[in-house]
Amino acid sequence: MKKIKVAEPCVDEKEVDAVKEVLLSGRYASGPKVQEFEEKFAEYIGVKYAVAVNSGTAALHLSLASINLEPGEEVIVPAMTFFATASAVIHQGGIPVFCDVDNNYCMDPRDLKKRITAKTKAIIPVHLYGYAANMRDILRIAKEHDLKVIEDCAQGIGTEIDSRKVGQFGDCGAFSFFATKNMTTGEGGIITTDNEEIAKHARVLRSHGMTNRNNHEFIGYNYRMGEINAAIGIIQLEKLPEMNRKRIENSEYLIENLKDVDWLVIQKHPDNVVHSYFWCPVFVNEEKIGMTTKELREHLLEKGIETRHRYNEPLYKQKALSKKTICKHFCPNKTIDYDAEFLPNADNYSGKMISLPNHPKLKKEDLNYIIQVIKQIV
Ligand SMILES: Cc1ncc(COP(=O)(O)O)c(C=O)c1O
Repeated sequence: MKKIKVAEPCVDEKEVDAVKEVLLSGRYASGPKVQEFEEKFAEYIGVKYAVAVNSGTAALHLSLASINLEPGEEVIVPAMTFFATASAVIHQGGIPVFCDVDNNYCMDPRDLKKRITAKTKAIIPVHLYGYAANMRDILRIAKEHDLKVIEDCAQGIGTEIDSRKVGQFGDCGAFSFFATKNMTTGEGGIITTDNEEIAKHARVLRSHGMTNRNNHEFIGYNYRMGEINAAIGIIQLEKLPEMNRKRIENSEYLIENLKDVDWLVIQKHPDNVVHSYFWCPVFVNEEKIGMTTKELREHLLEKGIETRHRYNEPLYKQKALSKKTICKHFCPNKTIDYDAEFLPNADNYSGKMISLPNHPKLKKEDLNYIIQVIKQIV
């Protein structure tokens, strides 16, 4: 029986050779590979600076630290995203305030406006699944209220709006290179920015707040990217345009051939956005198909097709992030008013989105098999 994985890294002898070269060089940290990777990634995104770190979560946290988020300040994040978008805010002593998503599953600018208070310091739009958040409206609102913008680009490596890559719109962008992402360094992340102050601050904080070997000016972290990871990243970055081209081609082929399946709702996006399809997300109309999303996923798995289920619940329903937990630990004197009725889209989409296999290693016959199995369901 066929077995189709939902994600697979594209790695070959080139990465193996690059790792070997670093291993034999004896230099594993803060060396030439990290610097080369940073320069090449900054050029790819179209920004002046890139600061490589050891995860996307570290990139988010360091971004928040680098914009000087103070304890008790609020940061608005979408309710439908990966946990780290919100937990990074808490690690910096801030309070995540959840806002709803729009029909493209990204931060809804109209709802964002309602969440702004006197304590709001920053906004983190997430380019979810590889689609782009509505940066035009988000940046306009940020400007009106003098707020910082950190783009969470973990899922948007190569996503473009009006021919400009995401990661260059906000004060900074935070990327992840986890193994399932459009490109990988094993584990890793990077901050992109045109702001020299932010880049400098992030560089110092990434390595124990050290301004030189004997001076610690800030309480920093060990968030350094290793030379081995950077060496993998340099090769992956060379391959990225082709990997993304294939990923987009696969996703568009699936979408084109599944568009008439009446129980699947497929994202429509305007021509000025290049969707990098980290995932190929489809919304399952459970009433029309007559089964739950969980049952559908089980059925597909029985047929050898793995899918992802992102995200099962909006973040505020996670125990670690519930209103009660956040208030108890971080702001005992404050009531946070995010509740189900305020976040109807996040509530509706969560649990009913599945991501179909679309990675670059898939062959036409794999895609045709997925289409055939899905079309046979009703
Ligand atoms: C939207 C989003 N933000 C942040 C992260 C965190 O990245 P990492 O796993 O590299 O720490 C992820 C990872 O999946 C993500 O999808």
